[in-house]
Amino acid sequence: MKDRIMERFTEVFGAGEGVKVYFAPGRVNLIGEHTDYNGGHVFPCALTIGTYGAARRRTDHKLRFYSMNFEKLGVIESSLDELTASKEAGWTNYPKGVLWAFGEKGMKIPCGMDLMLYGNIPNGSGLSSSASVEILTGYILRDFFGFEVDNQELALIGQYAENHFNKVNCGIMDQFAIAMGKKDHAIFLDTADLSYTYAPIALEGAKIVIACSNKKRGLGDSKYNERRSECEKALEELQAVVNVKSLGELDEWDFEKYQSSIGDDVRRKRAKHAVYENQRTVRAVEALKNHDVAEFGQLMNESHVSLRDDYEVTGIELDTLVEEAWKVEGVIGSRMTGAGFGGCTVSIVKDEAIDTFIAQVGAAYEAKIGYRADFYVVEIGDGPKVL
Ligand code: GLA
Repeated sequence: MKDRIMERFTEVFGAGEGVKVYFAPGRVNLIGEHTDYNGGHVFPCALTIGTYGAARRRTDHKLRFYSMNFEKLGVIESSLDELTASKEAGWTNYPKGVLWAFGEKGMKIPCGMDLMLYGNIPNGSGLSSSASVEILTGYILRDFFGFEVDNQELALIGQYAENHFNKVNCGIMDQFAIAMGKKDHAIFLDTADLSYTYAPIALEGAKIVIACSNKKRGLGDSKYNERRSECEKALEELQAVVNVKSLGELDEWDFEKYQSSIGDDVRRKRAKHAVYENQRTVRAVEALKNHDVAEFGQLMNESHVSLRDDYEVTGIELDTLVEEAWKVEGVIGSRMTGAGFGGCTVSIVKDEAIDTFIAQVGAAYEAKIGYRADFYVVEIGDGPKVL
């Protein structure tokens, strides 16, 4: 891939010295969904698929962007002096947002750059292609200009860009998982204080399989921000009767005790998911530590049911993929992953069942939904790097 992207870089931007090639992964969340903006735990991991970027500094303030995934769009030009988000800017809003965020954090970018990207994460699939571009950009800026920021800060800058430049109110999970990724490990992150540990994922005789529904969604136009405010309102109502800073501070028992203070059934369901899902995530990581993969899978299944019935972020596509997966012998657990409303599911499938899984779930999905799903057997990879 390095040679291919270098070659394309030269064709599009011209030959010259100083081109470097970088990689940032995508991520999949194993459990802990819609908990990261509720002060709860998440358990994501970086993947070996992600975004490749070739970049070179310029002597002026120009920014020239090109994506090998959207060749038709050609070179998209901008400038360090006009860093604003716009619909026409398309995917370049992600690198631009990070350039802007560095400036906001007091790190002045001295010159423009040419940037060529190629991603092998399906776009808009819930595997964080946008956060991958954000972390890649931050990593390049640090490498080019020597800013003293560690990977965790790169994650926070990426989230800041997403929240304030692209106006998507996302939590920290995606950027953190990508910036802090570690081969063959998932990250058990407490979003209340950003403390984390790495948990080895040794699925003896099984693999992580991602099924992409091919139903596109954008966080901005989804109900993501609505779910966030429903949780915030429910928290306010709970705070009238119990002293907590976030839903993540409550366990199931507390929730049942205080839930009547929430004045609306829908908000009560949303808050219930946030509380129960957080506790499930803690239990799931514990199960994994005890080598109880079956229990881990069971908790993944429960997570999906809660996202389907209480949080209501699944939809017929994700439900079909998951419910068909549950029918296949050798599936240890299956659930939607990411924001929901389309995107992907994640399943843990025994090696010998993978072919049947793909064939059976794929056929049932196409018959019911009318178009195909794509399947990826993935591996857990490291965070961003220079190639
Ligand atoms: C998206 C957001 C994350 C997180 C998930 C849901 O991926 O970017 O911050 O909230 O949805 O768990």
